[in-house]
Amino acid sequence: MQTANDIRRTFLEFFHKNGHEIVDSSPLVPLNDPTLMFTNAGMVQFKNVFTGNESRPYSTATTSQKCVRAGGKHNDLENVGRTARHHTFFEMLGNFSFGDYFKDRAIELAWNLVTKEYGLPAEKLLVTVYAEDDQAFDLWKKIAGLSDSKIIRIPTSDNFWAMGDTGPCGPCSEIFYDHGDHIPGGPPGSPDEDGDRFIEIWNLVFMQYEQITADDRQDLPRPSIDTGMGLERIAALLQGTHDNYNVDLLRALIEASAEASNTDPDGDHKISHRVIADHLRACSFLIADGVLPSNEGRGYVLRRIMRRAMRHAHMMGATDPLLWRLVPALTAKMGQAFPELNRAQPLIEETMKLEETRFKKLLDRGLGLLDEETRGMETGAELSGEVAFKLYDTYGFPLDLTQDALKPRGIAVDEAGFDSAMERQKAEARAAWSGSGDAATDKIWFETREEIGATEFLGYKNESAEGVVTALVVDGARVTVAEVGTEVAIVVNQTPFYGESGGQMGDHGVIELAGGGRVQVTDCQKKLGDMHVHMGTVAEGRVAVGDDVRLTVDAVRRAALRANHSATHLLHEALRRRLGDHVTQKGSMVSGDRLRFDVSHPKPVANEEMAEVESWVNDQVRRNADVVTRLMTPDEAIEQGAMALFGEKYGDEVRVVSMGADADGSVYSTELCGGTHVRRTGDIGLFKVVSEGAVAAGVRRVEALTGAAAVAHMEEQEALLLQTAALLRVAPGDVAGRVETLVEDRRRLEKEITDLRKKLATGGASGGGGGDSKDVGGIAFAPRLLDGVPAKELKGMADEVKKQIGSGVVALVAANDGKASLVVAVSDDLTGKISAVDLVRAGSAAVGGKGGGGRPDMAQAGGPDGSKGGEALAAIEAALAAT
Ligand code: ALA
Repeated sequence: MQTANDIRRTFLEFFHKNGHEIVDSSPLVPLNDPTLMFTNAGMVQFKNVFTGNESRPYSTATTSQKCVRAGGKHNDLENVGRTARHHTFFEMLGNFSFGDYFKDRAIELAWNLVTKEYGLPAEKLLVTVYAEDDQAFDLWKKIAGLSDSKIIRIPTSDNFWAMGDTGPCGPCSEIFYDHGDHIPGGPPGSPDEDGDRFIEIWNLVFMQYEQITADDRQDLPRPSIDTGMGLERIAALLQGTHDNYNVDLLRALIEASAEASNTDPDGDHKISHRVIADHLRACSFLIADGVLPSNEGRGYVLRRIMRRAMRHAHMMGATDPLLWRLVPALTAKMGQAFPELNRAQPLIEETMKLEETRFKKLLDRGLGLLDEETRGMETGAELSGEVAFKLYDTYGFPLDLTQDALKPRGIAVDEAGFDSAMERQKAEARAAWSGSGDAATDKIWFETREEIGATEFLGYKNESAEGVVTALVVDGARVTVAEVGTEVAIVVNQTPFYGESGGQMGDHGVIELAGGGRVQVTDCQKKLGDMHVHMGTVAEGRVAVGDDVRLTVDAVRRAALRANHSATHLLHEALRRRLGDHVTQKGSMVSGDRLRFDVSHPKPVANEEMAEVESWVNDQVRRNADVVTRLMTPDEAIEQGAMALFGEKYGDEVRVVSMGADADGSVYSTELCGGTHVRRTGDIGLFKVVSEGAVAAGVRRVEALTGAAAVAHMEEQEALLLQTAALLRVAPGDVAGRVETLVEDRRRLEKEITDLRKKLATGGASGGGGGDSKDVGGIAFAPRLLDGVPAKELKGMADEVKKQIGSGVVALVAANDGKASLVVAVSDDLTGKISAVDLVRAGSAAVGGKGGGGRPDMAQAGGPDGSKGGEALAAIEAALAAT
């Protein structure tokens, strides 16, 4: 038997042999199409290549694309499991030509693959073409040799394929397989075409046009090809079954489900096993592509699918969470073709286990209520919208879960009633809401959030994505257009921009419009917890609500933010290990150029302590261990030792980030954190503490750098050292010794200078006056002009001179930095009639001073005019003479 993996390989290799590039499946979250919830066809990743807006290094390609069709308008969820060919997740095999070959080659390749490689008998095949497409009709006839009766013209939109209301489109041609007249059903286009006899296996789209608006359709630059073949369908055919769920890929999961629940795979619980097999694939692939269960957008679709599967597990009597135990069976089958599944396996398992554990608690009670409310209801009855809403609101039953539960009994749900109950609850929340702080601004964001809902954050995995502008705010008011030069706040339905939270600053970057407009984003804030608001200036063109935009995060800054945030976690743990468990986070700021971390610690962190902390963090950096993010309840996370902030409000589920490794292999740091982190600790590059200080009593602040900034800092430090060494004319290693000697020398020299000055003033040195004094009215007067002597040394000198003259008056004046300092000393025997204070005041006036002070035996003063020292001494002498 050819396995599904063989069939996929044959397809890709066939086209590779025929010159096509084998391209990886793109993620399920489409990054280049903001209007699409999930990737739902192979051409999604090539949309802009068809329209000529993007070029690739190849002109033909082949893929096996992961697709999810659930949620949105065409929601088949309730059919999945009950039919042979409905899936939420499937693989679409396809070949693409971007202006290379067109209809003839596409038909030739398809026919050869189907009849030669896959070996399907030509007589069992028939095709459809768009009614007006004579060319395709003729080509099928010529290339495949099909008779006219096997080429059916279909006049409806069934044979005109469009990816959506706008975008690339064109007529298409489908290949059908006839299972034979023992199976009911008519050929395509006939009234009973929906029977199971004729099964479509491949759709060839002749991409020719681009739908710009509802009534504007233009030619594509070059006619192209897009084809889609469901892997599960072709595999069913090639494996001789009529039912996709018998294909090996799905059968393995059904058997795993049967084994885990100890039930018969084909018995009473057959439908449940099929639901579980399908949903397990959808949920696992979505989680691997970054979607996590939530109450909004994509996350809610995922939650709905998960909960539907979980109800079926519950129906089979599973008492413990079941789904997560089936993940290994899935990775065994599909992990080779989709390695992202292997990488995400722990995350998938934990997410499923958590969701099922939480939901199980509500499920029994919800089902009890449902039983009670529908007791005695007949087929065709309707459950009230109020009850369905209560199940949703109180018991976490998505509407489709309730519908699914009632479907076997033929009971419907009043959807309009459900919607109005939902609307009423929203209105109540609006009325009960009271803002905080700046009421006017709060109000506008509250109303905006109410109107447009949460922003889908794509930034854990991506730095670039497309989105649709949903709101614009200029000067505190909602507007529909913002012109060039305007400062604007922009909300987009989905974004890779991180909104400031948890200490991590918002992303910077650019929002671009296809028509050439550009907004430079300088901040991104989160409003009401989950709406990302991009702040910036319209740098070019204009931006309007409804515009499709490409959002690109400044990747260099983001990389630095990641490194700084991850380093903060390592620093936190290292500080606790070095200083003790009393160390808790008191504040954190992660920006693009540094990190700041405040912790409780009663005294300065000593240099040796900090050096050790720093080296431990760098050890972790060099270990280069994986950084792993998982989703848990807060209680579970704390049980696992995650560091959480006391008093912080956490949601039902939290992200738990673990990183680093101890010698025994255990995880180094585990924290609750919604921030963005490096993939491996080695991405931090280098960690360097640059300061440590107090911010408040008992709180220390550490500032540090990582990566390029840390290296730049170290380089600056080294340059300083080299510069110093050059000045000192020693090798860098001898700088400390040299400086020590210099400091000692300086101390010694200063002392020598002081001594010399004293000698100078007191006559110990040549040119000095020694005990020289003159007689002023019978009193010995010793005046000295001592420029350059520091003011603080004057009193000591005055005492010295006074000792030498015995009885008399000493007056010293020094100029320093242009200012004059005066000291007058009077020997004790004279203080009765002469006051040093009076004399110093007389001198002070001469240098522009305002008096002076002291005691009768010693007084000092100063003045701004240092050049008038001589006049000051003369004034003192005159005052002495006058006494
Ligand atoms: N894009 C085409 C489809 O999805 C092939 O059917």
